Amino acid sequence: MRLPLITILPLVLSLAACVETGMPERPEGAAFFADNCVACHGTSARGDGPLAGSLATTPPDLTLLARNNDGRFPETKTLAYIYGDPQENHLTRVMPNFGKEMALDLVPVELDGALTPTPRVLAGLLVYLESIQR
Ligand code: HEC
Repeated sequence: MRLPLITILPLVLSLAACVETGMPERPEGAAFFADNCVACHGTSARGDGPLAGSLATTPPDLTLLARNNDGRFPETKTLAYIYGDPQENHLTRVMPNFGKEMALDLVPVELDGALTPTPRVLAGLLVYLESIQR
């Protein structure tokens, strides 16, 4: 069966829209990690980035988050830590807050059994971090 282009076009367009607004996946999180986290946590996420040695606090090994939490990836805690407290400035901890600029683009993520509005990039980041646990 051949469909005229005029019939297919809206389908293609709506599919493209779906892809763009769909849930973020691992590559998106990996790219965000590469851009924003490796300076301190390192490309391996094990806390050996180029800045690590000059920080007052050593960045933790992010591949051990699950192991340090009875084998369960602590998604809520991890997300909350990365998001930070938008009311607070950067001085109370070494790691910057990442939440402030992101809060406009939210997707529902299931955290501890409840769908929770979560910044899109952080949702992707969570998928990535969970995938690198050892
Ligand atoms: C300026 C250096 C720096 C950058 C950039 C940075 N971190 Fe961190 N991170 C730290 C340090 C240092 C700690 C230890 C706690 C503290 O003092 O802030 C930490 C702690 C964490 C923790 C808590 C770990 C635990 O054991 O509970 C997570 C999760 C984390 N970082 C993820 C990230 C992610 C994801 C990014 C990128 C979006 C990032 N960090 C960017 C330095 C950094």
